[in-house]
Formats: sequence, C-alpha cells, structure tokens
Amino acid sequence: MLNERKSLFVSSLFVFFSASVFGVGETTVDDATLSVMGNGKNWAAFGRNYSEQRYSPLTKVNTESVKGLGLDWYMDLPDDRSLTGTPLVVDGVIYFTGSYSKTRAVDAKTGELIWEYDPESIKHAGDRLKVMWDQNKGLAIWKDKVIISTIDGRLVGLDKATGEEVWETMTVDPRKAYYITGAPKIFKDKVIIGNGGTEQEAARGYVTAYHTDTGEMAWRFWVVPGNPADGFESNAMEMAAKTWTGEWWKMGGGGNTWHGITYDPEFDQVLVGTGNGSPWNQKIRSPGGGDNLFLCSIVALDADTGAYKWHYQTTPGETWDYNSNMDIVLADLKFGKQTIKALMHAPKNGFFYVINRENGELLSAEKIGKVTWASHVDLKTGRPVEVEGSRYEDGEELVWPSAFGVHNWHAMSYNPDTGLVYLPTIEMPALFKDSEIDLKAWRSPSFRVSTGIEFNKEDAAADAGAAYLMAWDPLKHEVRWKHLQPPQWNAGTMTTAGNLVFQGRADGRFAAYHAESGEELWAVELGLGISAPPVTYTVDGKQYISLLVGWGGAGQIVGSLAAQHGWKHKVHTRRLFTFSLDGKTEIPSSPPPAYAKPVDVKDFILDERKVAQGKQLYSESCSLCHGGGGVSGGMATDLRESPMVLTKESFKAVLVDGASIQKGMPRFKDYGEEELTSLMHYIRERARYSINNPSPLHF
Ligand code: HEC
Repeated sequence: MLNERKSLFVSSLFVFFSASVFGVGETTVDDATLSVMGNGKNWAAFGRNYSEQRYSPLTKVNTESVKGLGLDWYMDLPDDRSLTGTPLVVDGVIYFTGSYSKTRAVDAKTGELIWEYDPESIKHAGDRLKVMWDQNKGLAIWKDKVIISTIDGRLVGLDKATGEEVWETMTVDPRKAYYITGAPKIFKDKVIIGNGGTEQEAARGYVTAYHTDTGEMAWRFWVVPGNPADGFESNAMEMAAKTWTGEWWKMGGGGNTWHGITYDPEFDQVLVGTGNGSPWNQKIRSPGGGDNLFLCSIVALDADTGAYKWHYQTTPGETWDYNSNMDIVLADLKFGKQTIKALMHAPKNGFFYVINRENGELLSAEKIGKVTWASHVDLKTGRPVEVEGSRYEDGEELVWPSAFGVHNWHAMSYNPDTGLVYLPTIEMPALFKDSEIDLKAWRSPSFRVSTGIEFNKEDAAADAGAAYLMAWDPLKHEVRWKHLQPPQWNAGTMTTAGNLVFQGRADGRFAAYHAESGEELWAVELGLGISAPPVTYTVDGKQYISLLVGWGGAGQIVGSLAAQHGWKHKVHTRRLFTFSLDGKTEIPSSPPPAYAKPVDVKDFILDERKVAQGKQLYSESCSLCHGGGGVSGGMATDLRESPMVLTKESFKAVLVDGASIQKGMPRFKDYGEEELTSLMHYIRERARYSINNPSPLHF
C-alpha cells in the first residue's frame, strides 16, 4: 500500500515536472481542438486550426497597442539556411522545423531549447540531394506526437514530450527524384502528405494518408492516371484517363501535390490542391490536348477511404506550371441571405476562386493581378476562356503570370471580422518558349530539371518582377487596399481579432498593418529576407508573436531578381524571433546586405561551344540552387566568385568527389572531363559578363 502510494506520488510529481518543463499541459491536439476557433492560446496546426484561416482571436496586441510591440526573445539558428516553416505552439511549447527538417521544441516563453531532433536528411538523400533544397514548411501535432516530413521523402513520428523517434515511413520510391517540402496535415488519427518532383522525373503525383500511431499506410490517391493497359486504381482514374491523349504515362503526367491540403471537418473530406503537368508543356505530355485531370485542381476525397467525391479544375490542360498547390482556406461566406460553406483558393494562374465545398460548384473566379493567358472564367461552364496564342502555339509567347504565379505557397489569411483575405502577390511575366526543343524526341529527365520549355537559362533582371501585399474582398471581388512591396518573394500573412495583419518581406522588414485600412502601424528590420509566415499564441495570458527568419524557397532561383536583396549564401544568421508588448530585447545585429564579387581570370580563353554546353548543363543541374544565369539568389554559393571553380582539381573535389556533401552540395559522380570543362567555361563567361555589365540596381 505504502509502495503504491509512493509510486503514485512519484508519477504525479513526474507529470507535474514534465508539465512545467516540457509543457505537456492540458491540451490534447485532436479533432475537437482543431475544429473550433478556441481561445487563441495555441497555434496547434499549420493554418492554426482546420479552417487554415491563419486568423487568431487574440486581441491584446491590437491597432492601439501594437506600437508597443518589442522583441521578447530570439534564438540563433547558425546552422540553418532556408526557413520557410510555420511554427506550432501547444501549451507554451513552440515546435518548428528548420533546414533539412531539423526539428526543435522550445519554451515559448523563454526561448530555451527543450529537445532537438535531426532526421539526417542529407544522409538519407543519396542521389536525391541533386534535386533537394533544404526547406520545409512545417510539422503536425496530434495527441502525444509531433510528425515531421523530410525533404528526402519520409514521415517521422516523434514523441512530443521528448523528441524521440517513434516511427518512420518512407513515402516515395527512393530511386526516383521525388522530395517533400510541404508540411504534413493531420485529421482523425491520420496524417497525409504528398510530394514534389514534376520537373526532375517522369513524375506521377499522389497523396498518402498514414495512421498517426504507427505510420502505416491508410490510403493513397493517385492524382493522374497511369498506363490504361495496367488497369486503373480507381473509377476516378478511369474517368481521368478519358481527358488525356498520347502516351502520357511514359512521362508520369505530374499532378504532384507538394502543398495545399486541407481537411474539411464539416463534410469529412480532404481537399487536395494538385500540381502541374510533368512535363509542363502539354504539347509533349498530351499532344492531342484534353483537360488532363486531375492536374491543377481541387479534388475532394473521403477522409476515411481516400475515395474521390468531386473536383474543380482551375487550369484545364495546363501548360505553364500553373499548379493549384496553394493553400485552401475554409470559411462560411454570405451570398445574399444564404450562408455557404465555401473554400477560397488563389492558385498560380492569377484567379481567386470561391467554391462551394459541399459539391465543388464554382461561385466566383476573379483576377487578382495581371493575367494574360485567359480573359475571364465563364461561370456557366466553370472554365477559363483562354486568349489565343497564350499556349505558345507558335513556339514563343510572353505570358502573365510567370511560373511563380500571381500567388505562390506563401500563406494567405482570412479575417472573418473584416471579411478580407490578405495575400502576397507577384506581378511578373515569363517568356514561354519551346521553339528550340524537339517536342517529339523529348524524354523525361532523371535527377535534373527539364520541363519541355526553355527554363531558367538566363538571369532575371532585378526589376523583372514586382510584388504586392493585398487585401482582397472575396465577395465583392475588389482590392480593398494594396501595398507595393520589394520584389518579388514576400512571405505569408497572419491576421488577428486585434484588427491586424502581420507579414514579413523579402527585404527583412516585419510589419503589422491595420486590417481594414492597410495602414502600416508597426515595423522592425530583422536583417535578413523573410520567407516564413508568423504565428501568435499566449503563455500565462500574455500574447506573443513568433516568426522564423531565413530567406528560402524557389524565389531564390531567379538570379539578380533575388540577389538584389543581398542575402548572400551563409552571411546572415538565421533566427527565431518572438515579440510581445513588454518585449525589451534589442534586435540582434545582422551584417549589411552582401553581394557576390565575380572573379575574372584574365588569361582564361573562352570557348563558345563549351560555354553553350556548360550553360545547358548548369541550367538543368545547378541553377535550381546556384541561381539562374550563374547569379545566386542566396540558396547556395555564387559560383562566379567561388575559388573552388578556379582549378579543375578543386572543382572536381566538390563536384565529383562530394567534398561539400554534408553542407548540401550534391555529388555528380558521373561527371567527367567534358562536363567539368564546359561548366568551368560557362561560369567564367558569367563572371566576366557581370564584371563588364554591372547591374545598376545592385552591384
Ligand atoms: C541541391 C542544391 C545544389 C545543386 C543542384 C548544386 N549545388 Fe553546388 N552547392 C550547393 C550548396 C548548398 C553549396 C554550399 C556548400 C557549403 O556551404 O559550403 C554548394 C557549393 C558548391 C561549390 C563550392 C563553392 C565554394 O566556393 O565552396 C561548387 C563549386 C558547386 N557547388 C558547384 C555546383 C555545380 C557546378 C552544380 C551543377 C552541376 C551544383 N553545384 C549543383 C547546392 C547545390
């Protein structure tokens, strides 16, 4: 008896101890928690709750008090690079993924590290390091687990209290060039994840749901049909196959779902925002045309079985990389006297969609930026009315928007009090060109980028794209307010009942705006480009606002357009910042913007043929990380100034022998004399070119 009492005492002490130290408090993150607005204490899911609205009911920080917001604490993350994730907060503990999905739990009040878990993505990557960035958009919490996705394609279930690994599941075929940058989403004891890879593989997209307690597969939904001769996995695939022509399955077809999955508790369905074609160019993928279902669609699936319920396709027969991978936000919207359970979605194609989630019926689709591929969306047919020529029928066409879209993955938020959606937008065209590609002879790549159109071969000028922060009225279809922002890759937003909108920018400014008027009410300069969205929570009744700061994502691949901000690779320390109304910590200093200093080797004689060969190799295999046209946007070293490219020995050591593999530089072990030489010629040509043609906008 005595012993029993003693052990009870000890275990309740342990509970008390872990409650205060590890923050294992009263909240159980489950369907009940994520289905409601709650009191704002936690930010327990990617979009705060199932609605994905990124709206917090907290009001202590509001239009009056926000001017007193100061830095409460910060955490240096010296080994991280790209930080694109949404941190989650439950019972005073903040959980977040950094580069290569390294995961940390931190005391949300003090910034002290509680545990850390490294999934060792580089070690698991193998050849896939060639297609892997280091970014990850976030994690999921369910009951006693934290579940992370790794860039090399795994889901890992961790013990929420200790960070110890409980299970691990490989979600992709490791022999293929698939990767994961998206956050896993969670519902009803299941976790769902898709993947990316449409540009580097004969990719066939799918999403898979796994059991949260074991990591075992529950169901899988393929986004596009495979070879009809093999039989179809479902009736949905049989239906989809009727919208394809030619031998698309040899090229995978695409539809990879790398972001944009929302669970809808009211209809017990999973809404999946699907990807673009593989390859991008429809003339190659499905030469006789067709809608190519379920590319660029929202597909509603039964949450228990993954069975198809309905779909709406935003870009039928896509041929511009206009995927629908962007966030899907749920809201009750008033149409006249009727309240409709709607979803809102702003895919890359430039239209803002409002759809009835009961049946997929299109309610409205309006342009939110410059769009030239379609004149409008016909509400009767639900289809876009395309502008002649925009499919680059003659081999070349300048089209708005570019493959970056008018809206990319940077989160939009919806404030039910103002009825407005806050989203970062991009104004930028692209020259879609396939006149130099043999469309019939084109074959899918393997571990290199090839899209069936000319892709990222040239540097993008510093003024090639503009950007806005926009407050959009989804019912009146009008811009309520809009701010011109630094080009072109600004971060996602958060909105609160304090009548505020928070957002970080590409130039390192983090600001709060009046949600109705758009007036900037507060701002700080954080010394590094911001790519992640903020979150807010309370500990002991005090409101905090947290934000990861670490320039990251595809916006860096465009060369000078990204490089102009001066976030040169590895110069500026990455950080987690947390603000509060009585925060008095000084913002840590950050080095000034830094720019590459290209090195010209005077006696290096350029061989035009080798330069051209090198350009092709570079654009397919290096530009994704080192930047278009040889100009790094910050994701990796600017090769124009790298001493490692100056001698064949050092170049070979890095490129072929893998000397920098642990830092994320993949090994190209098949490269021989020809590849090394042509790449050296191209890089020297780029260095000489930029010295002779300095950009007036930056260096
Ligand atoms: C998946 C991303 C990725 C790809 C693709 C990639 N690199 Fe890298 N590379 C990196 C990163 C990250 C570094 C910086 C490593 C470090 O921190 O030292 C790097 C470093 C290098 C360096 C050493 C620079 C220095 O001064 O230390 C060279 C040279 C290089 N890369 C060449 C190439 C070439 C050539 C290609 C294409 C054939 C290529 N890389 C493709 C990510 C990549």
